[in-house]
Formats: sequence, structure tokens, C-alpha cells
Amino acid sequence: MSEWKLICRVDDIPVLGSRRVARDKGLDVAVFRNDAGGVFALLDRCPHKGGPLSQGIVFGTQVACPMHNWTIGLCDGQALAPDEGCTPKFAVKVEDGAVYLDAGELATVATDLTRPVAGPARRAVGV
Ligand code: FES
Repeated sequence: MSEWKLICRVDDIPVLGSRRVARDKGLDVAVFRNDAGGVFALLDRCPHKGGPLSQGIVFGTQVACPMHNWTIGLCDGQALAPDEGCTPKFAVKVEDGAVYLDAGELATVATDLTRPVAGPARRAVGV
């Protein structure tokens, strides 16, 4: 049986936007809200090159990654063809206007995934 953790009120999530939920271990979880009242949760990591999906544009039941515009399904975390890949999804419960995530999933799902380091941040300074 799931132990649900209260995250926020639905109204705390902008329509067609998201908010990030920090975890003790692992990357944040992005909780999205669409314009039909749907609430979805995915790891805040694009399956392409790790972009922050929480900064993407929500439309329908999808989010467009802000990095290279891949489209990721909010229901399943799957990249829309022809792109391939999947980001972990998290169970969401909405009850009386409050949003809950599964505490067990928050503690265990994809805690080993990191965000890729790219570009100038990888260069050694003074070498
Ligand atoms: S990192 Fe998301 S589309 Fe490239």
C-alpha cells in the first residue's frame, strides 16, 4: 500500500506549467499541470540529454523540452517518435485539491540518474 506525501495544492502549480519537488536523494521531480486539470509527475530530466523538463512548455498531455524541443508524454514519460527514450514517471494522487506523490517512489525511483555536465562547465580552468 502506498504512503502518499502531500506536495502542494493543485492551485500552487501554474496552469500549463510545473513546480519542482526536491528529494533527499536523486534529481528533482517535476509536477506538471495542464489546462484540463490534469496533474502529472516526471523526473526533471529529459531522456535526450538531461534537460530540465520543468522548464518546458506544457501542451495537452505533453511537455516540450526547453533544450532541443523533444516532446515527452506526461502520462508515461515517453519521447514522441521519431525521438526515442523515456524519463521515469511518478504516481500522482489528487484529492480535495491537494497533490500527493508516492513517498516510496520519491525515495527509490531513479535516484541514481544525474544530469549530464556539458559545454564550458567541463573545461578545466587555467589549463
Ligand atoms: S535535452 Fe531535452 S530535447 Fe535535448
